[in-house]
Amino acid sequence: MTVQIKSADQIEKMRIAGKLAADVLDMIKPHVIAGITTDELDKICHEFIVDEQKAIPAPLNYHGFPKSICTSVNHQVCHGIPSNKKLKKGDVINIDITVIKDGFHGDTSKMFLIGKPNVATLRLSDVAQTALYIGINMVKPGVKLGSIGHAIQTYSEAQHYSVVREYCGHGIGEQFHEEPQVLHYGKADTGITLKEGMCFTIEPMVNQGKRHIKVLPDKWTVITKDHKLSAQWEHTLLVTADGVDILTLRDEEKDWRDKLPS
Ligand code: MF3
Ligand code: CO
Ligand code: CO
Repeated sequence: MTVQIKSADQIEKMRIAGKLAADVLDMIKPHVIAGITTDELDKICHEFIVDEQKAIPAPLNYHGFPKSICTSVNHQVCHGIPSNKKLKKGDVINIDITVIKDGFHGDTSKMFLIGKPNVATLRLSDVAQTALYIGINMVKPGVKLGSIGHAIQTYSEAQHYSVVREYCGHGIGEQFHEEPQVLHYGKADTGITLKEGMCFTIEPMVNQGKRHIKVLPDKWTVITKDHKLSAQWEHTLLVTADGVDILTLRDEEKDWRDKLPS
């Protein structure tokens, strides 16, 4: 029941794994267009991770997961399995990448909108991303995890969306999922206190309709019960002496603080 404090050597390896995971999302971006299947996206990512990065796609065979990436389309919340179905204009897809390099994990996901973005879809995706950034911006030694969950929930619900409760962020390192659990809802000033050297993800799932979800018979794909859209963004983080390092930050997000509500 303890949260690991990473050593300097472990942190260096987390930085490398995080950078590789972020690079996969940058690499796949031009491929995420109408007409491509999620199986094809899986194959491109798999080959890039294995052949170029000399890394391991963590989802493959993880508790029996059959593919190398997760692709969650429209009302799919998370853990969608790549398939032979084509993306079409108006779809929205979360691609979740986790790589293992030198024994350490980097885990990150983002939303891609196919074709001309629909206003409502764009707003949902932006709120989920801002919810993530609000959480990240609070990370520093001394802060309690419950305060972060509370802030994410408060912001998302104020935008008239709901937050999924059944899945959460997680500690990360040599294991894909370590302690602590990072809830995206909750009560301020509760839970564990952050310390320098902790690594964990924040990955809020924000729904257009109600928060309730169900798991498909494939045992993996999580969907909204009301079939309304869901959006998720994820980063792997390091608690530093005075704040946070986003280990999976992409260049396109370097001004992420500008997205924080004023
Ligand atoms: N990447 C997911 C997360 O953010 C976990 C996927 S587990 C899998 O924690 F088996 F579906 F890949
Ligand atoms: Co994760
Ligand atoms: Co993930």
